[in-house]
Amino acid sequence: MPDFRDERLLIGSDTMDDAGVYKLTEEIALIQTLDFFTPIVDDPHLFGQIAAANALSDVYAMGGVPIIALNIVCFPSEDIDRLTEVLLGGAQKVKEADALLVGGHSVEDTEPKYGLSVTGTVHPLKVVSNALAKVGDVLVLTKPLGTGILTTAVKGRILTEADIGAAITSMAALNRAGAEEMQRVGVSAATDITGFGFLGHAREMAQASGVALEIQASSLPLLPLVLDMAEMGLLPGGLHANRSHLGKSVQVDGEVPTALADVLFDPQTSGGLLMAVDADKASLLMENLKGRGVLEVSIVGRVVQGVAGTISVKM
Ligand code: CO
Ligand code: CO
Repeated sequence: MPDFRDERLLIGSDTMDDAGVYKLTEEIALIQTLDFFTPIVDDPHLFGQIAAANALSDVYAMGGVPIIALNIVCFPSEDIDRLTEVLLGGAQKVKEADALLVGGHSVEDTEPKYGLSVTGTVHPLKVVSNALAKVGDVLVLTKPLGTGILTTAVKGRILTEADIGAAITSMAALNRAGAEEMQRVGVSAATDITGFGFLGHAREMAQASGVALEIQASSLPLLPLVLDMAEMGLLPGGLHANRSHLGKSVQVDGEVPTALADVLFDPQTSGGLLMAVDADKASLLMENLKGRGVLEVSIVGRVVQGVAGTISVKM
């Protein structure tokens, strides 16, 4: 892609951040993002909720407030009833975000796809990028891992959608409280965990910030049944792609069980926020998040000196 630069462009595509950020005035910067994908669950209403929560998350990951959303729809014309449910599910999440759904665009397609383009705002001096994690920071993760493995198990008919209720609830949950509390407490950096998996997005943060990360695998929050499924080898294709893409930048200690290591590369849908926060503020942040109902929030590692963009995973 050609290089786009402007003094008002606060975050462009060069740091692999979650959204673009453009300074409109001294008080207001615009956050712009877009995300859509194929159904991750059969229930159309839940799919709509999850896709919308996932798209809104990139605004939250920048510390922003979503204000306007547009539907992006590809759908078979004979499936209008399902589409209605998808759109209602998505609209419900936009409402929960206190944003406005103002339109969208649809094309006919044999393979359904849905998502949102979201516009948000943030104070230009309060943008939370993924590029300012600093040595000594503690890493906080706000949602449990394993949605890729669990939805793969459902597609493989090993589990039913009822079995993965915790994963569905987690994917449909907004990262709103996470964004609000990280602004209240003040954090160094943040991103959300999505398709590149926990380690993929952690690595982007490490690279953009010019730091190394140390992850404690035993402290990572996991969804129920994830380790069982990983032990059975029910791993999505994206997991292997994520692992080979990261290559030698990630070193996993031999003491980390194989199934647990697999989960660290699992592509997530609508995952949690990964925040780098000053060690002195970490317990306040954790307390506030729990008070807001973000119950599975955990300290999962820390920012250390080392080769920029590298991660070591210990047990
Ligand atoms: Co993101
Ligand atoms: Co995205």
